[in-house]
Amino acid sequence: MTNLFTSTMPAHASRGPLRFPETFRWGVSTAAIQIEGATRADGRGRSIWDTFSERPGAVLDGDTPEHACDHYRRWPQDIALMRELGVGSYRFSIAWPRIQPQGRGPALEAGLDFYDRLVDGLLEVGIDPVATLYHWDLPQALEDEGGWAERGTAQRFAEYAHVVAGRLGDRVRQWSTLNEPWCSAFLGYCNGVHAPGRTEPAAALAAMHHLLLGHGLAVEALRSQAPDARLSIVLNLTQVHGDDPEAVRKVDGLHNRVYLDPVLLGRYPADVVEDTRHLTDWSFVREGDAATIAAPIDWLGINYYAPAHVGAAADPSEVTTGALPGLRGVVYLPPRPPLTGIGWEQDPASLTSLLLRLSHDYPGVPLVITENGAAFPDAVGPDGGVDDADRLAYIDGHLRAVHAAIEGGAPVQGYLAWSLLDNFEWAFGYSQRFGLVHVDYETQERTIKRSGHWYARVARSGELPA
Ligand code: NOJ
Repeated sequence: MTNLFTSTMPAHASRGPLRFPETFRWGVSTAAIQIEGATRADGRGRSIWDTFSERPGAVLDGDTPEHACDHYRRWPQDIALMRELGVGSYRFSIAWPRIQPQGRGPALEAGLDFYDRLVDGLLEVGIDPVATLYHWDLPQALEDEGGWAERGTAQRFAEYAHVVAGRLGDRVRQWSTLNEPWCSAFLGYCNGVHAPGRTEPAAALAAMHHLLLGHGLAVEALRSQAPDARLSIVLNLTQVHGDDPEAVRKVDGLHNRVYLDPVLLGRYPADVVEDTRHLTDWSFVREGDAATIAAPIDWLGINYYAPAHVGAAADPSEVTTGALPGLRGVVYLPPRPPLTGIGWEQDPASLTSLLLRLSHDYPGVPLVITENGAAFPDAVGPDGGVDDADRLAYIDGHLRAVHAAIEGGAPVQGYLAWSLLDNFEWAFGYSQRFGLVHVDYETQERTIKRSGHWYARVARSGELPA
């Protein structure tokens, strides 16, 4: 269970210098719609985030992804920044609406060309591309047909995967199908704080299943186009804490296990199916789906930011408001200080516990931290620099936690910081800055923050300084 390892882990891993394994991969992550801008360029179709961000009140300050970091045009400069950051891996996502503007049919050459150039540019300077097929920008045309709540969307996704792998599969070795399907399904279709902004808990569970089915079908498509590719899915996992084992079980079930178990064990967790039977009979799961979803993968991507604290509600039948469909009898307790600028708890020890728990409950799959980082309200100082000691300390603490997990036997093979650049932080718009590089959105000027200079030394040496 979730707290299996917490009692044995030190609250803080060692403060001294720490060496990582020689083969450990160091990198940075981004996502298409958060950085590219140019949402109307070269025939790109609309995505659900273009539509959602135009809905009054959906995104803070009415921000939209229209310009973002203008990475679509400035990518050569951004590759140069990656070199300055000393990283060997770059995780980016491909915008489905640039490839198939209506979510189906022939590929748009201009869209494929963009990623083609990006991949070649990365390889030229020795940076390994790590491509994500879906980081939340569903073509609006598919949402108009029901989106992920419809089974057909999984099929469309596999067709898109086939097209992209056919073009890039000769050079991109590392792939992820989905980024954080939890967010796509539960934030998108249950509490509606993400696109498409629907509040239909039963549809959210169907969306979850169709995303996972899409993952399995995309794995098949990728394998057929790129037999040597190393395939993965990226999950946002959390360590759930609480004194009430039932509350912990329920939240761990709907947050972690309902995604992990079908992919890695070939079945949905029976307790979660029971917990949600009042919403759906799960008839969206058809014969053969379990095997498709459990298609072998080569590594698991983990996005970790903060733990969760939960307790029992006074009334066990009380519906818990929030993202988890069907959750009852649970209360979420406030995050515990210290918090990051976005209000998330800083707890590196929970990352160690989570990684050890994964290596115990799901043995044999290599792990990669595909995202970890922190938002703080940075500003460029009078000397032209950005002194983000708080972000540096957050990443340092979490890298020590990763190191402790490796020492404890967890097969963690790499760490990709979120994020290369400040960017469009979904419903928070541009108000939250996660970058190792500061972006002035007026001028598009980039400034490597102190954390970025520090990360470059760590990535180049493979060692955390004392
Ligand atoms: C997870 C998401 O994958 C990414 O898009 C987001 O910006 C970060 N977390 C921070 O919230």
